[in-house]
Amino acid sequence: MIKIKRASDCSESEITPETIYQQRRKFMKASSVWGTGLLLGGWGTYLNASVDVSSYKKSVITLDDKLTDFKDASRYNNFYEFGTGKDDPVKNAQEFNTDNWTVNISGECEKQGDFPLEALLEGVDIEERVYRLRCVEAWSMVIPWLGVPLAEVLKQFSPTSKAKYVAFKTLFDPERMPGQKRSVLDWPYVEGLRIDEAMHPLSLLAVGMYGKTLPNQNGAPIRLVMPWKYGFKSIKSIVSIEFTEKQPPTTWSLSNPREYGFYSNVNPNVDHPRWSQARERRIGEFFKRDTLMFNGYADEVASLYAGMDLTKYI
Ligand code: MTE
Repeated sequence: MIKIKRASDCSESEITPETIYQQRRKFMKASSVWGTGLLLGGWGTYLNASVDVSSYKKSVITLDDKLTDFKDASRYNNFYEFGTGKDDPVKNAQEFNTDNWTVNISGECEKQGDFPLEALLEGVDIEERVYRLRCVEAWSMVIPWLGVPLAEVLKQFSPTSKAKYVAFKTLFDPERMPGQKRSVLDWPYVEGLRIDEAMHPLSLLAVGMYGKTLPNQNGAPIRLVMPWKYGFKSIKSIVSIEFTEKQPPTTWSLSNPREYGFYSNVNPNVDHPRWSQARERRIGEFFKRDTLMFNGYADEVASLYAGMDLTKYI
C-alpha cells in the first residue's frame, strides 16, 4: 500500500529542524557563485559540488513493505558503465569523482545552459520517499530515496509548448567509467520520458538514499527514479536533460527493440520475450511474489496511459 503525504500532513518533528535548514541554506549560499537567477556565467571558481542531504522532509511517501537492507541495495547493482556483473559497480565505482558536476539543459525550453548541480536543486526541498524498484530481470527492492520531484526541477527551465518529451543522458567518460571502454551498450546511456510522465508527482530525481548521499554505484550524484517503470528507465549519473518535440531514443530499445520499448511500464501481463514478468524475487526474501500492475502504483499513474494498448506500447 502506498501512502502519500500532503505537505500539510507533515508534523513539525518530521521536517528538518529550522536550524539545520538554515545551515543548509548558508552552505548553499556559500558555495553558490551563480548569483541571480539560474543562468550560468563565471562559475570557474566553483569548488564544492557534493550534494548536501543533511536536511530533508522525512517519510513524504512511505510503503508498508519492508525496506531492502542498505547492504543489498548498495552492493547488488546494475550500472554497466562500471561493469556488467552485479558486484562490479560497488568495486569499480569507488574512485568515481563527481565533484563540479554540471547538468546541461537544452531543447524546447526558455532557460538553457550548463548548470552546477546545486543550482539545479536550489529552492527545491529534498524529500524522503520509499519506492519499490522492479528490475526487468524479475528482482525487486524497496528503497528509501532522498530526492526532489522531477517536475519541480524541470519547471525552472520553462519548457515550451513544443516540449513533448524529456531526454536524459549519462556521463560519457571512459577514463572515469571504465565499463564504457567495452562496447556492451551504445554509450552514453540515454533514456526518455513523455512530458506528462516526467511531470508526474511520483517522478523523482534522487541525490541520496537511506538518509545519506547517493553511493557512486547507485548513480551519484543525481539519477532518475521512476517507480512504476522497469528499473532501466531510472538512468544514473545524469549530465544532460533535453526537452524534445519527438520521442527520444533510449539505450535498451536501441540495443534490442524487440525486447525493450520506450514506455517500459511494469506489467505482469506482458512477458519479456525471454522470461515471464508475472512474478518477482524481492531481494532478501526466499519466496517469489506476484508482480503488481505498474509496480503497485496503478491508482496514481494508470490514467497516463488511458486508451493505450499496453501490449503494444511496451
Ligand atoms: N543507468 C545507467 N547509466 N547505466 C546502467 O547500466 N542500469 C539500470 C538503471 N540505470 C543502468 C542505469 C538498471 S537495468 C537498473 S535495474 C537500475 O539502474 C538499477 O539501479 P540500482 O543499481 O540503484 O538498484
